[in-house]
Amino acid sequence: MEVIIVKDADEVAVTAADICCDMLTIRPNATLGLATGSTPIRLYEQLVSRYRAGDISFAKVATFNLDEYLGVGSDSPLSYRRFMNEHLFDHTDIDFVNTHFPTCAPGSDPRLMGPEYEDKIQRRGGIDLQVLGIGANGHIGFNEPGSSLGSCTRIKTLAQRTVNDNNRLLSENQIQPDMALTMGIGTILNARRILMLATGESKARAIARAVEGAVTAMCPASALQMHAYVRIVVDEAAAKELMQTEYYRWVRKKNESITAEHGGRAGEDPWFHPSLRI
Ligand code: PGA
Repeated sequence: MEVIIVKDADEVAVTAADICCDMLTIRPNATLGLATGSTPIRLYEQLVSRYRAGDISFAKVATFNLDEYLGVGSDSPLSYRRFMNEHLFDHTDIDFVNTHFPTCAPGSDPRLMGPEYEDKIQRRGGIDLQVLGIGANGHIGFNEPGSSLGSCTRIKTLAQRTVNDNNRLLSENQIQPDMALTMGIGTILNARRILMLATGESKARAIARAVEGAVTAMCPASALQMHAYVRIVVDEAAAKELMQTEYYRWVRKKNESITAEHGGRAGEDPWFHPSLRI
């Protein structure tokens, strides 16, 4: 895992946006896996301003969001579809037909929706770059502690801690959903590149467990240790409980010197080198 420690949340967003832009430069028709939550909002702001500046286009991009609440319609203010429209899609040239969520139409059997979503991802050729946040309990998507490390898209019941954490995003009288359809940990691990973001001290423990702890279903993000191409961008507060911060900074410096020596333009970042099966 490549751990990138930067000063604050703004730098996390800029660093993550650089990586996403490199991806879109190399592969303009990339398939992105996207996340909701408070952490990626600044990343999406960055992407919108880079789109407005003409640096990137989403015209050929397809997206698959990690999760969606069960029983929440796409026009509900709670829905992740609405979140993504407001924070990213409405402000870019993306074709809405190419934006996907694991949803279940009223009256349909939600148990069948997971396999359908997996098929859709496969038909598109798989996910090139998956963006992730991390829950304070170590969850990724809505894969709560105890989730199978090989799981596919399916229904999950939210952990009480997640319900509590998400309460802050609700206005008065809104009922907090407690079930969701979510990509599984196995779905996430199938992405070719994974970019996880974390900011703030409330994530420090989860980041330490994910990066330096044992691989365990009790910390779903620790499964990322099994993937060959994961970048974790954290601010100093979220890095607080990591034991090897000096080493991660040193590795970053060494990688930068290799990039400077052998090419530093988009497309030449070793993470995206064609020989690495991007
Ligand atoms: P947050 O959520 O970005 O709102 O902290 C992250 C997550 O739960 O995955």
